[in-house]
This record gives sequence, structure tokens and C-alpha cells, in this order.
Amino acid sequence: MRILKDIMNNKGRGRVPVIKNGKLAGIGARIDVLEKMPRILSKMRAFVPKKLMRTINAIGGYADVAGINAFLTGGFVRDILLGVKNYDLDLVVEGDAILFAKILKEKLGGTLVVHRKFGTATLVKKWPSWLGPSIHPDSEFKIDVAAARKEKYEKPATLPVVRASSLEQDLYRRDFTINAMALKINRSDFGSFADCFGGMRDLEKGVIRILHDKSFLDDPTRIFRAVRFEQRFGFRIEKHTERLIQHAVKQEMFRRMEDQRIREELILILKERHPEKAVYRMKQLHELRFIHPDLILKRSAKRTFREARKCLKWYRVAAVRKRKIDEWLINFLIMIENLDLYQTEEVLEKFIFTNNVAMQIRSYKEQERLVRRRLSQGGKVSPSLVYRFLEPLPQEVTLCIMAKTGSGVARRRIRKFFTEYNGIDLQINGHDIKKEGISPGPRYKEILRKVLYEKLDGKLRTKKDELKYMRKVIASECGNPRKQAP
Ligand code: CTP
Repeated sequence: MRILKDIMNNKGRGRVPVIKNGKLAGIGARIDVLEKMPRILSKMRAFVPKKLMRTINAIGGYADVAGINAFLTGGFVRDILLGVKNYDLDLVVEGDAILFAKILKEKLGGTLVVHRKFGTATLVKKWPSWLGPSIHPDSEFKIDVAAARKEKYEKPATLPVVRASSLEQDLYRRDFTINAMALKINRSDFGSFADCFGGMRDLEKGVIRILHDKSFLDDPTRIFRAVRFEQRFGFRIEKHTERLIQHAVKQEMFRRMEDQRIREELILILKERHPEKAVYRMKQLHELRFIHPDLILKRSAKRTFREARKCLKWYRVAAVRKRKIDEWLINFLIMIENLDLYQTEEVLEKFIFTNNVAMQIRSYKEQERLVRRRLSQGGKVSPSLVYRFLEPLPQEVTLCIMAKTGSGVARRRIRKFFTEYNGIDLQINGHDIKKEGISPGPRYKEILRKVLYEKLDGKLRTKKDELKYMRKVIASECGNPRKQAP
């Protein structure tokens, strides 16, 4: 271990650690961590859009002018090698990252978010149309810039103290071999490649492997990450790495982690394309007790996850009024299906979700059964009644009900709501009520709502019909309205 530390502290120049199964297996001769790798350049040309390639080249040029070494690393490099689309640039520089990020903002535009404590910054730009449709709806294009750094964990599961370092040390602090490769982008040396820990080999073998044995104790979020990458790419967590996960779980690492960090990792898992795979793998590895001790994930939930995906796909095409949908939230609702309202409140308290998210989760738990039962009932249920059930619900909740229900009639009614009822507008408005001598107030909403219900039920066609019915509502509510006029 001593030798490894010396190398990582740059005292062992000329030597490199040889890591096997996550353990130090020996020390090899070091030539240079950077090698020319034509394969990665040809992959880059094949998978990275030309304009993005030009942006990367330009960034390399700015690094030359600033006199610093700049590398692409992390997920970006991994995904190029896998041939997977990932346009978020992960940059590491041997120098002042924040200063460099400021230069990038000046040259490329966008908004800069600086994390001074960690010496990192993120440049956020609107998704450029030349990148094609964004991978996730409403995505932004991000450039993360970090200074090459060493991390020291003073206590397990806490945030590390960071210090500037070389590229090799920076790669060594990372989570898995497949995320610990770097590609130099300075113009003079474009395409030189660093793969100190066998990342390329593990990508080829389809293996998730940590770099050192304390990795999960230092940063237990990596347990979630291991599962997320394993399931996303159809890889397998290497045996020793899996044993270390089990060890970390036995050490109750989740209890030592801040709940908000767990929440963020959980959300990332639930945002995956096939979240159920990662969710069931998590269950297998360490149960899901860290969310709530009574959480039981039934096998049948797998089907609901899949159905939810189909419903959302359909919604994005067919709904007349499309809203931005938090897909992860639908998945979360499916995941906590067996928890009652009280247990759900405990989860909400533990993870401190935003008010809006908490409101949606509560709304689901309170309404789901009742709405599902009512929508499945036979006989005639008028469109206005369906509207009254569904309109007050967050659309995530309705989509979750749609995914869950086994009733064809309930599904048809929900479909009608999204494709027809929810798009129906009145031709009259508050001005028309005012003309009837009613003073403005909450009653306006009530009157308009009643007219809308009538219209939903197909009884009003023209504006004239709406006005006529509106007058009828007013008259039935307050006798002769003109007498009340101010
Ligand atoms: N990283 C790490 N340990 C963590 C989080 C991140 O070592 N707990 C490093 C990894 O090298 C990772 C890089 O930081 O590749 C960037 O992290 P992030 O953007 O979170 O992940 P990506 O690997 O880009 O994954 P994704 O495709 O999910 O964005």
C-alpha cells in the first residue's frame, strides 16, 4: 500500500500500480500514462456530431492559450468507446478549473455554475438543435470542468477534502475503471489517451470494477452507481467489487450517508431507461430497506414499470395538452406501492422531496384507489365526471393510475381525458359573466366550470349555447342577477 501511495503522490515516477480484481497486484514499469490511441479517435469521429467535435477542438485550443492540459474524461470517454450517445462533456484540467470555465463561458456563452469548494464549475447551455433531439426531454447541454484533484475522505461516507493533483491521481480517485480514462484535447497532443486501470479492458469484458477496496466506504453513492451502470449497459459487477458492496451494506453505510444524497442517487436510477432492472438488482444486493423498512417490491411491479413507459410514450404523442412529466416520479410511485399513507409520510420526511413532488406523492396515495375504482365502474360515466376525477390530479399520478389499472374501461376513459376532454375550452370567459352584472369573485370560476361540464357532455356547441347556459347557471344560483349588480 505504501508503494501505491508513493506512486499516487508522485514519488514513484516511472512506476505504475497494477490493479487486479480491485486489488494492488504489483507495480509495473511506467512509460507514460498517455498513449496514442487511433481507435478512440475513429470512434469519436463516428459518434460525435461534427459541430460538437469542433467545439471540443476549440476547447483544446483555449487550453493551449491558457497554458494548461485539458482532458475529456468520465462518462463522455466511456460512452464514446461504447458507441453510446452522451453529449455532456466531462473535462478535467491540470490547472485552475474555475478560471478555465470562465474562459469557456466567455467563448461559448451559457450560464456558469461554480462550486468553489470542490474547484469545479459547470457551463450550462440550451440544448443546441444541431445535436439532434435531446436524449432526455428538456435536457440541457453541459460542460463540467474540474481541476485534476486528489480526494481525502476524513470520515467514511462524508464529502471529501480535495487537493489539486496530476491527471493520474485524479483518475485514481474515481469510482470505476470504466469511468477512469482520459483523452487529451490540447491541439498539440489531441487524442493522447490515459487508461491507467484497465478501463478499456473492462469495457470490452463488460465489467464494473472499483479501483481500490475503500471505494464504497469512502463514497457509498458508488453502490447505486455500480448498479446503475451495470444495468444500463448490461454489464456485471465484478465479484470482488460485489463482495465489497455487500461488506459496505453490512457496515450500514446507508445510515451514514446523508438522506439527500441517497435521494439524488435514487432519482438517477429512476431516470434510467429501464429503471426496474436497477431497482430489482438493488433489491437483490441490499434490499430496499434504506428507503423504508416496510418496503416490499412485488414481482408484479415489473409489469407496471413497463406499462408506465408505454403510457408515457403514448402520452407524449397523443395528449392534447402535454406537460413536462417527471418520469422518475411515476417510477417512484410504482416502487413505493405497498407503503400506506403514514409510511409514505415517513419517506417524505426522511428524503425531503420538494413541496411539489411531495404533493404529487401524497395525491397519489390519497386518490389512487378511489379514482381507479370509479373509473373502472361499468355503466355510463359522463365525460364531465371523468374530467372531474382526473383534472385535479397531477398528470404523473394519472399516468401511474393508467399504467396500474387492469381495467380496459378505465384506460379508455383516461385516454379520452388526455386526448379530448383536457383540450376542451370555453368560448366565453369572465367578461361575459361581468356583462350579466355579477361582481368579480370566486363565483366566476364556479360558473365557468359548470358551463364547461355541460360542454364536455356534448350539450353546448356554439358560443350562443354557452351564453345561454351560463345565464341559466347564474339564474339558478342567485335568482335575478341584475339586482345584485353594483
Ligand atoms: N465520479 C466518481 N465518483 C462518484 C461520482 C462521479 O468517481 N461518486 C466520477 C466518474 O469518473 C464519473 C465522473 O465523475 O464518470 C462524472 O460523473 P457523473 O457525471 O455523475 O457520471 P457519468 O459517469 O457521466 O454518468 P452518467 O452517464 O450517468 O451521467
